[in-house]
Amino acid sequence: MILLDGKALLSKIKLSLCKEVSLLKNDNKRPPHLAAILVGDNPASQTYVNAKIKACNEIGFESTVINYSTNVKQDVLLEKIKDVNDSDNIDGLIVQLPLPNHIDEHLVTHSISHKKDVDGFHPINIGRMVLGLDCFLPATPFGIISLLDEYNIATSGKKCLVIGRSHIVGTPMSILMSRNTKIGNATVTLAHSKTKNLDSLTKEADIIIVAIGVPTFLKSHMIKKNAIVIDVGIHRIPSQSNKSGYKLVGDVDFHELKEKTAYITPVPGGVGPMTIASLLQNTLYSAKKIIYSHT
Ligand code: GUN
Repeated sequence: MILLDGKALLSKIKLSLCKEVSLLKNDNKRPPHLAAILVGDNPASQTYVNAKIKACNEIGFESTVINYSTNVKQDVLLEKIKDVNDSDNIDGLIVQLPLPNHIDEHLVTHSISHKKDVDGFHPINIGRMVLGLDCFLPATPFGIISLLDEYNIATSGKKCLVIGRSHIVGTPMSILMSRNTKIGNATVTLAHSKTKNLDSLTKEADIIIVAIGVPTFLKSHMIKKNAIVIDVGIHRIPSQSNKSGYKLVGDVDFHELKEKTAYITPVPGGVGPMTIASLLQNTLYSAKKIIYSHT
């Protein structure tokens, strides 16, 4: 079994992004700038936004966090998004999800200019991704592709099962794995809550990408030997043996299943850091376009 080390790959990507920031500086240009909107006090969302901002600071990107209370009016968010869309010195904008129930998540995320949509959620970016055109790829699926590429995992002709059809992970992941690209060309099945006989699909799959949000869902008896397992889930569960009183687990029962796999992502340290890596890469890509469009 080989661990797919997202933390190590994030460090490597950060080094190369640092160099890109130096190149911009040598060219008398400003650094890339990411803005994040955070609504409410969801501890997980706060942790994710903090991690994204910390990574920006470490590589010399500018960053701005815009905080709102849970009861913020939707119009206030839309107005702020418009300001950021129009700003010349912000290259990427994310709105951390989930949003409170009174806010229309689609309306808000789709009002981010597709040119600054470094999360890759905008319909224009999703559409361009489907067509294989230049776009921002959604951060988590892009990170998984980068991880498979880093470990030279061949995907062409393989049976790939994606479990979970969310707009931000499962659905775009299934599209990326089936595209005619180096990491792609797989025969993809997208399983979801209405799928019958899931075990028969997991047992056949060469690559399984699990993004259903159920702690330790995928078990050893469900997979074939030497499967490649990618775990997108991250959950805090109570644990007596940890000082903090909790531990982090994914959607995969890592300890029970790891020895049966050829490759597996750990939680934490697998897919999570790769979402950040992709976000930083998308922000740099946007910055270069914006900065050099003014010259
Ligand atoms: N919430 C969970 N994952 C994500 C993500 O990738 N981007 C944003 N904006 N919110 C999230």
